[in-house]
Amino acid sequence: LFHIGPYHIGSQTLLAPMAGVSDLPFRRLCSRLGAGLATSEMVTADTRLWQTDKSRNRLMWEGISGPRSVQIAGSDPVQMAEAARACANLGAQILDINMGCPAKKVCNKAAGSALLKDEPLVVDILQAVVAATTIPVTLKFRTGWDAENRNAVRIARLAQDCGVQALTLHGRTRACRFEGAAEYDTIGEVVAAVDIPVIANGDIDSPHKARQVLLHTNAAAVMIGRAAQGNPWLFGQVNRFLASGVIASGPDLSAVAALMQEHFTALYEFYGTYLGCRIARKHLGWYLDGHLAWRFPAHLKADVWRQSFNALSTPEEQLNAVAQLSDRLNPLEDQAA
Ligand SMILES: Cc1cc2nc3c(=O)[nH]c(=O)nc-3n(C[C@H](O)[C@H](O)[C@H](O)COP(=O)(O)O)c2cc1C
Repeated sequence: LFHIGPYHIGSQTLLAPMAGVSDLPFRRLCSRLGAGLATSEMVTADTRLWQTDKSRNRLMWEGISGPRSVQIAGSDPVQMAEAARACANLGAQILDINMGCPAKKVCNKAAGSALLKDEPLVVDILQAVVAATTIPVTLKFRTGWDAENRNAVRIARLAQDCGVQALTLHGRTRACRFEGAAEYDTIGEVVAAVDIPVIANGDIDSPHKARQVLLHTNAAAVMIGRAAQGNPWLFGQVNRFLASGVIASGPDLSAVAALMQEHFTALYEFYGTYLGCRIARKHLGWYLDGHLAWRFPAHLKADVWRQSFNALSTPEEQLNAVAQLSDRLNPLEDQAA
């Protein structure tokens, strides 16, 4: 398939780093179900802040099968270089630099996608980080600052010249945030302009879309973010479709329930029960929307059931509720079959 530095990437579908979503429990599930790379959520390049649970939790890789990739965000070359060394010392095998995040918190400090405006600073950061460590450095960015300033091809060439070993490009400008549809022409232009692997990202939500984007851009792989929420099976489905043209059917009810229980149990272990239960509610909403809501009979409303789930506050109650739901919906599924 393709390599990032010395690392062979085992599939063409990668999980996007998503703050608040791509935590260790979720990355583990996605990598087991077929994601070739599951980069951690961004951590600040300010290593003085790494003492917080939030940062420490992002620097962990237990049970991830692909290479251990971590993302850093910042704007000071010296600080970024220091963070890169620290990540490598903690066991990271790939270091991803975030120049794609439009969030105010990141952009106000001229980090994330705000950096795209300042090409000399981009070069300073990339050179400093590449020189700081022996592990491969990758860059995740957007097509430009706004529609008038689409400098992705220039940034990509600069990055390659600095020694960056792979690029992930989200087919939107910073000004687009998450509005409108992602465009893939610029991604194709970047692929044609550089020799290093380019990973296409933005709005990929099905096996067909993944193949279409790969064909349109000639990218080495696709990266999937929001569509994987509540649907980690998507990686396997895309992989299978790319390999054989077969669309695998989605998971049956018992598989969904079993995976939710496994996921939630991992959340309780990772975050402790208080926070774990709260984070489980968020994921439950996604599983419900993607795989369960349409299985509810008319008399049992999915949103009512969701509200009752959200009132539960212990792991036992949450896991029981999932098991009971599965039992209640199962006979209906059998009847339907
Ligand atoms: C909740 C959320 C958090 C995100 N956090 C990050 C992040 O930490 N680092 C990053 O590079 N991109 C982040 N992104 C952007 C995604 O990695 C991805 O580029 C974007 O969602 C487009 O892909 P998609 O259409 O498949 O979701 C985030 C996106 C979302 C929705």
